[in-house]
Amino acid sequence: MPKMVAMAIPEPGGRFQRVERDIPEPGPHEVRIRVQACGVCHSDSLSVQGLLPGLPYPLVPGHEAIGLIDAIGPDVSGWTVGTRVGVGWSPGYCGYCRHCRRGAAFACENVQGATGLSRDGGYATHVLAHTSAVARVPASLDSVQSAPLMCAGITTFNALRNSGAGPGDLVAVHGVGGLGHLGIQFAAKQGFRTVAVNRGRDKEALARSLGAHDYIDSDAGDPAAALQAMGGAKAIIATVTSAPAMQAIAGGLGPNGTMMVIGAVGDLTVNSLDLLLKSASVRGWYSGTSADSEDTLAFSELHGIAPMNEIYPLARAQEAYDHMMSGKARFRVVLTMDD
Ligand SMILES: NC(=O)c1ccc[n+]([C@@H]2O[C@H](COP(=O)([O-])OP(=O)(O)OC[C@H]3O[C@@H](n4cnc5c(N)ncnc54)[C@H](OP(=O)(O)O)[C@@H]3O)[C@@H](O)[C@H]2O)c1
Ligand SMILES: [Zn+2]
Repeated sequence: MPKMVAMAIPEPGGRFQRVERDIPEPGPHEVRIRVQACGVCHSDSLSVQGLLPGLPYPLVPGHEAIGLIDAIGPDVSGWTVGTRVGVGWSPGYCGYCRHCRRGAAFACENVQGATGLSRDGGYATHVLAHTSAVARVPASLDSVQSAPLMCAGITTFNALRNSGAGPGDLVAVHGVGGLGHLGIQFAAKQGFRTVAVNRGRDKEALARSLGAHDYIDSDAGDPAAALQAMGGAKAIIATVTSAPAMQAIAGGLGPNGTMMVIGAVGDLTVNSLDLLLKSASVRGWYSGTSADSEDTLAFSELHGIAPMNEIYPLARAQEAYDHMMSGKARFRVVLTMDD
């Protein structure tokens, strides 16, 4: 019997272990994907460190997977073996319960579990996914290039287009990491006056080459004051992994501005007076649905948007993860499933 290979975390806070398992059969409404590439996201730390209650261990992280459908479960229509698809960490939704019908799919009563978080993910040669969680990948996009679009891409693309900002509005992308380096590209191509914000000047030239019209060094002064000097931001796409850093920029919102909180930083303190005087808001943003992933892929194809990747084989998942966590990755680490 052929086996699948996965890099699994045995218990919260554990290290990756190579495991061989029987190749699983897809259940009802599921497909099995032969994974070609899977991005390594900072959010994988939730699975690796066990930062959410009730996660199932051993657990295979990975929610930026691209591959070919190689088996189809019962009650599946519209999907065929050989189709190239991506799966992000959006859970599968039923599409017909009262929450899905009202567009609040994240509250779906039949939610199928988040890939790489509450069910096994893409640090593996094979992954099962609910059909409502998978997105078709355009033929012209490369699998390794597309993998980070399944989380880093969709999250920033979708946050930007739901931020309330319009063409020409000042939008700050805070953090120039895996998410931020894509967020800058999306913001510029979505027509915003795009300002990148990061610590120091190391990433300024790169941020500008990705489309940023301006750059703020958050170590050189008060980043909120710097944004106010530009007129105040209509939206701040906050991708940093530090709560103090995120707090320090919230005051840079302009009237009716919105800070889209993407970085998972725990407790966050904002000045209520500052918010109410501007009718400004702070809003959490979770990536999106598989339809949003398809929009992200199509927009990226149209505008030539791509991540900058560092590639590791699946067997070196621990090294790849450690490199991502070190903050030294430029800018997305992607695993390929050669073995
Ligand atoms: N909401 C969602 O659906 C969603 C989806 C994906 C990821 N996330 C979250 O988004 C965050 C970013 O993920 P990522 O993969 O882009 O991470 P990443 O590649 O590690 O990038 C982290 C960014 O945060 C900055 N940063 C780190 N520590 C900082 C500090 N003390 N002060 C100021 N800036 C600091 C880094 O700046 P330097 O260059 O200076 O190090 C870098 O720009 C994570 O919290 C992740 O869990 C959320
Ligand atoms: Zn992610």
